[in-house]
Amino acid sequence: MTKRVAILISGSGSNMVALAGSMAGDHPARPVLVVSNVPGAGGLAKAQAMGIPTAVVDHKAFGKDRASFEAALAEALEAARPDIVCLAGFMRILSAEFMARWQGRMLNIHPSLLPKYPGLHTHARAIEAGEAEAGCSVHEVTAELDGGPILGQARVAILPGDTPESLAARILPWEHRLYPAVLRRYAAGDRTPVLLP
Ligand code: GAR
Repeated sequence: MTKRVAILISGSGSNMVALAGSMAGDHPARPVLVVSNVPGAGGLAKAQAMGIPTAVVDHKAFGKDRASFEAALAEALEAARPDIVCLAGFMRILSAEFMARWQGRMLNIHPSLLPKYPGLHTHARAIEAGEAEAGCSVHEVTAELDGGPILGQARVAILPGDTPESLAARILPWEHRLYPAVLRRYAAGDRTPVLLP
């Protein structure tokens, strides 16, 4: 059975475009919904241009009431009956309860070589620490932030003179290769890690 995939975004959605574009032909999954927590997110128009239904659950409308935001998010997701949910540049921290409820069917991409540098400002922290390499990781989402089983990684050298921006720009194209490669395996029930390059 073809797997139904929902994708959560907050911004430009370049990983969403890579994921959605990959789900064609003999791929075991298809995109069924793109949800943004930011009403004007650039990725929404890209999803619509690809013919994918979109929804907005604006976290600002809920103020500090995270439980209500997450209830609205869950409702939007569940209406699309996804088998797999991909976080792709989704920049809200979800509660441990929410993540636990979706465990086993939710993936995330994070721009560091986890378990190093979970959280924010990963590129700057890797450079400041004098790391020789950085990269990106796709992992299964569990109750621990950026802490679930790693399903794939791509490694990138940190070069002399790198800034957080130049490093992020070098890693992003690898994100676009890694995430679709992991999703294809995951949707087929294969959790063997994808290691790039
Ligand atoms: C990507 O680099 C992704 O790894 C990162 O946000 C960017 C989103 O770009 N995600 C995180 O930092 C999650 N904590 P995109 O909207 O163009 O895919």
